[in-house]
Amino acid sequence: QATSIPADRVPDMGKRELMNLLLLGAISLPTAGMLVPYASFFVPTGTGGGGGGTVAKDAVGNDVLAEQWLKTHGPGDRTLTQGLKGDPTYLVVEKDRTLATYGINAVCTHLGCVVPFNAAENKFICPCHGSQYNDQGRVVRGPAPLSLALAHADVEDGKVVFVPWVETDFRTGDAPWWS
Ligand code: FES
Repeated sequence: QATSIPADRVPDMGKRELMNLLLLGAISLPTAGMLVPYASFFVPTGTGGGGGGTVAKDAVGNDVLAEQWLKTHGPGDRTLTQGLKGDPTYLVVEKDRTLATYGINAVCTHLGCVVPFNAAENKFICPCHGSQYNDQGRVVRGPAPLSLALAHADVEDGKVVFVPWVETDFRTGDAPWWS
């Protein structure tokens, strides 16, 4: 008889443990789900302040100051800076010596080579497979299937700040493929 008591309790305890596990699961599942937006709230949005902007960096990693930049980069200039997510992004100086309000992501939409600007041809020409883009980054020759991605180039407190471009692509009238 003495051995029948623990034998009875074993399934009981097993059941209780199972209940605890189920309860724990029921609590931790929604908790995990709620942690995602909570955590993303604290992910820094870059140093550009609001709106997910990123301050453009020059070749040596310094913030790009708009006024300084225009002193050393003339009309028609397209020079690489570090943009959103670290992507190489061209800052564009317009013919009237103002900064364009857009930057051009230099990553070729074919297989990802960084596309240099050819000032003589006034085009971006990919060295890898010969894709060509006009001076605004619109694709004009394949194999690249798409135009180069855009980013807004804003000026905040004198610094150039790239902000994700989620609006219509002004070059094609299409929705932005990159956002
Ligand atoms: Fe640019 Fe292929 S990666 S053309």
